[in-house]
Amino acid sequence: MSSKEVAEYIAAGKREMLCPVEWVSAGVDLPEGVDLIDQRILPHEFKVNHYADVGELSEAITDMVVRGAPAIGITAAYGVVLAARQAYAQSADKWRETIEEDLALLMASRPTAVNLQWAIDRMRGLFASIQGDPEPVLLAEAMSIHDEDIAANIHMGELGAGLIEDECQVLTHCNAGALATGGYGTALGVIRTAYKQGKIASVYACETRPWLQGARLTAWELQQDNIPTTLLTDSAACHLYSQGNIKWVIVGADRIAANGDVCNKIGTYAHAVTARHHDVRVMVVAPTSTFDLNARSGQEIPIEQRAEEEILNYSGVKIAPENVPAWNPAFDVTPADLIDYIVTEKGIIEAPNSGNVESLFD
Ligand code: MRU
Repeated sequence: MSSKEVAEYIAAGKREMLCPVEWVSAGVDLPEGVDLIDQRILPHEFKVNHYADVGELSEAITDMVVRGAPAIGITAAYGVVLAARQAYAQSADKWRETIEEDLALLMASRPTAVNLQWAIDRMRGLFASIQGDPEPVLLAEAMSIHDEDIAANIHMGELGAGLIEDECQVLTHCNAGALATGGYGTALGVIRTAYKQGKIASVYACETRPWLQGARLTAWELQQDNIPTTLLTDSAACHLYSQGNIKWVIVGADRIAANGDVCNKIGTYAHAVTARHHDVRVMVVAPTSTFDLNARSGQEIPIEQRAEEEILNYSGVKIAPENVPAWNPAFDVTPADLIDYIVTEKGIIEAPNSGNVESLFD
């Protein structure tokens, strides 16, 4: 996909930045509903899918048409709007009960990113006070969730960039960019802002086996912004740290426990261990909607297991011999003591632990 196509897509939308999810008004033959950029086929194909059915939207989350914790949360919020529309059409009196089946489906669409649960709970919080058709009230709330996420990312970009002193090279894992959020990105938001401020010379993007979010999405996003980017295999990262050229590892999160343990894309823990060994600092960038204060530690966070085929095949080609099983956890937990900073829209937590996480929320 060319930069011109991206620019045209952005110009046609209501925002001045790339957004992976957007609520769109009804058009010819198109009911009002949710547009998702299909991230399964980026960067070489650019396709936008439209959803007006909550069941299909839940499947799209499971299939990773949209992915990244905040983007999943925003999509789920719009999903609640679709579910309410369907439930209200079925029964104007009983929509609050009827809707629950679809909300359970949405809730189960991916298990680890807590933003999904957070967004559904926030939307559900309005149900009791709604009179008449729930759609307008719920749509306004979903749009606020989306707008707040973008604002949080821009603010976290400033805060995180403020931690970086001199011009340096940084590494990121997975994709915590515009595509993973409402827009701008969490980790890539910090990288974007710091690059503009002349604090980042170039970025190393880890390919992020097996789904290749880094190779396909992060490298593409950074290229769109003309930020110098080099791709490396996940297993090359430790060697890179040993050469002393990387000053920061900057990543996002899917769920942060009350003690500051961070659950993020599989491989993040290995980065944190090797980064500490080589005196490279670790910055996690995540909005407060990514915290799960009910999880006392990372051990209580559910880790999604994905299909064996993601590992047994490479680019659609079978690579492993027959009958070899594969273990494919999509996330891991980095213990809080390996993290230097967690940057949130409410402020920065240095050396996270139960006390300073609690203070942030107080
Ligand atoms: O499996 P994914 O692609 O949904 O995983 C995404 C990540 O792990 C991201 O790092 C995380 O959601 C933060 S996105 C701002």
